[in-house]
Amino acid sequence: MNQNANNRSQRAARQLLESWQRSGITHLKRVVPDPKLVTQDEPEPETPSERTILPVSRDVQTVAKPEILTQQTVVPTKEDSTEPDDSQKEMGVPRTTKSNLVKADRQAELDIIADQVAQCKKCPELASTRTQTVFGVGNPKAKIMFVGEAPGADEDKQGEPFVGRAGKLLDKIIEACQMKRSEIYIANILRCRPPGNRNPSDEEAANCRGFLDAQIEIVDPDYIVCWGSVAAKNLLHSDLPIGKMRGQFYDYGRARVLCTYHPSYLLRNPSAKKNVWEDMIYLFQDMGIELKSS
Ligand code: URA
Repeated sequence: MNQNANNRSQRAARQLLESWQRSGITHLKRVVPDPKLVTQDEPEPETPSERTILPVSRDVQTVAKPEILTQQTVVPTKEDSTEPDDSQKEMGVPRTTKSNLVKADRQAELDIIADQVAQCKKCPELASTRTQTVFGVGNPKAKIMFVGEAPGADEDKQGEPFVGRAGKLLDKIIEACQMKRSEIYIANILRCRPPGNRNPSDEEAANCRGFLDAQIEIVDPDYIVCWGSVAAKNLLHSDLPIGKMRGQFYDYGRARVLCTYHPSYLLRNPSAKKNVWEDMIYLFQDMGIELKSS
């Protein structure tokens, strides 16, 4: 690895750690996995039984990173990052090797972050108007993580992401992909509801970023789906419209990131559902799974 790439990667790691600290994450114990527990961890459902497995041919998916990312982001790619082994690794730095933590340990780490989120008052307006924080939900060892925008009224009431109308549509998409909601990990750019469901401000997204990065770091998904332009723009620091970001993978640490339309947009524009279905086919094909239209 050349010196420039090394410096870039170290800078990315430092910035991410600082964003964690700005978000109020002051400590996180790195759990050393108990070898006994490793063998007790339940096997991950690789694929539901009816799925057809395609030969995995990742080379078809090698997509050049768009200029906007190469110019503006500090997202380390698999090739140019230095990855300390797990014992030296700082939490919050995007992973470039697979986490070896068992499910229970990941859940324990997520619980610590969730407690810190519940006490967060970095965004005074959001902290004073929320019913509760909405941290995230799902399999702490999920292969796929969904990232949405921010809680709405239903999520604010129930404390869980994507439980309103958009969430019901998301559930249908998950079902069409022959998956269960519980197999996926679901979070948002923000953990508090913006009043009137307005878009998150840049400052709010930055305040909450450390929490999101912590969730990504702990769950360590192979794939992240950004639902809508707010998720895509904030995770990848891109200003491209979502229509231009679709149809290719981006790197975020170890994860491959796919961007698609938000379910709320689909409720208003049902004709875009076919585009989202194409995106799901593209995602699952990369995982070696052929999705069948029912
Ligand atoms: N929309 C989102 O982006 N996230 C939610 O949790 C609910 C609706």
